[in-house]
Amino acid sequence: MPESVFSLNRPTRLRSATREHPLLRGPDKEAQLAVQIHGLNHTFGEGELAKQVLFDNHLELVRGEIVIMTGPSGSGKTTLLTLIGGLRTVQEGSLKVMGRELRGLSKRQLDEVRRDIGFIFQAHNLFESLTAFQNVRMAMELKRYTPAQMAARAEELLHALGLGHRMHYKPAKLSGGQKQRVAIARALANRPSIILADEPTAALDAESGRVVMELFKRMAKEDRSTILVVTHDKRVIEAADRIVNMEDGRVKSDVVVMEAAAICEFLIKCPLFANQPPSTLAEIADMMEYERQHAGSIIIRQGDPGDKFYVIRSGQAEVIVDDGKLRKIVATLGAGDFFGEAALLRDEPRNATVRALTDVELYSLVKDDFLAVMQTSMTFKERLLAVLFERQ
Ligand SMILES: Nc1ncnc2c1ncn2[C@@H]1O[C@H](COP(=O)(O)OP(=O)(O)OP(=O)(O)O)[C@@H](O)[C@H]1O
Ligand SMILES: [Mg+2]
Repeated sequence: MPESVFSLNRPTRLRSATREHPLLRGPDKEAQLAVQIHGLNHTFGEGELAKQVLFDNHLELVRGEIVIMTGPSGSGKTTLLTLIGGLRTVQEGSLKVMGRELRGLSKRQLDEVRRDIGFIFQAHNLFESLTAFQNVRMAMELKRYTPAQMAARAEELLHALGLGHRMHYKPAKLSGGQKQRVAIARALANRPSIILADEPTAALDAESGRVVMELFKRMAKEDRSTILVVTHDKRVIEAADRIVNMEDGRVKSDVVVMEAAAICEFLIKCPLFANQPPSTLAEIADMMEYERQHAGSIIIRQGDPGDKFYVIRSGQAEVIVDDGKLRKIVATLGAGDFFGEAALLRDEPRNATVRALTDVELYSLVKDDFLAVMQTSMTFKERLLAVLFERQ
């Protein structure tokens, strides 16, 4: 499949903000979360001058993921970042970082939390009296590294960022972009659990921007660092696992980027979607939501109005029909099978119950989207009818 299918330039239908991380559910979820935000509000000023800038935010960031945050100027991105980073006091709501609730922590406790966070903010705050190398090494002094390890890591990062020949220069002798790269090396030096970056590539040329994203990706993978980047830079967005959009102090949408690609890769293997041109498939994948259901739960119930069409990504489900006298299991469905189309096509209640036999992962399409696909893609419609016919 050509790369362009997954290009972010195509119109992406933004899903509504999810209250739970879209990819995570289950008992070990807590351990995998680096950041958990629930009902977070924030107000600047007091009394008549009080201005609320964050409203009831919910957001979860998983360990090892790269999340891009976009949004208009003044929408609250930096405020949210500084709250997550323990640079501001949490006023209302809950904010947990690596499992620890920040609300109510003392200044000293917040200092501790900050030690495990790498900050890349626009004002780089390098120590003017120290060289680039010393600035980077300093960031590691609070952790248990040997001097040799600190030196090796500082050199490695500065080399990677194209500053090998500037290592022993002081900030005054460096350009704005070079200082920014030193600040980035410093933020990454002690392999923090969380990296918070506010427009990190704004002052950088294309090549440096690319190198920074490569470093982010490597840290996300090797160290399971969670990386939250505020940016509007297209090149950076390519590296994202998820894009979160802020508007008027609220997280408005939360899109899993790789998941759309993963849905595509999966759909192409399903008989129902096999003949679709990549562009149609990408559109369908984009409209699909990812869901998980536990073993034993009812996914759709006979007699209920039909609202969604489903494709099983993994797991097994059984189709049960109750004719008023007898309950009969009429089919067992597995990966690649679909269900739920009948009620949508005929605008009738569900004609069967589908129950999860194992934990099941599903991709669903809401009714309007399903009908739109049926209308716009004759090949999809034909294929659906053919598969249904074969099922008889
Ligand atoms: N220290 C502060 N005191 C009072 N108001 C503030 C303060 N910092 C930010 N604000 C206000 O809070 C709102 C959100 O600001 P914030 O800096 O979080 O936005 P942003 O999304 O980062 O914008 P930009 O893209 O321009 O950086 C704005 O209305 C801003 O004026
Ligand atoms: Mg900002």
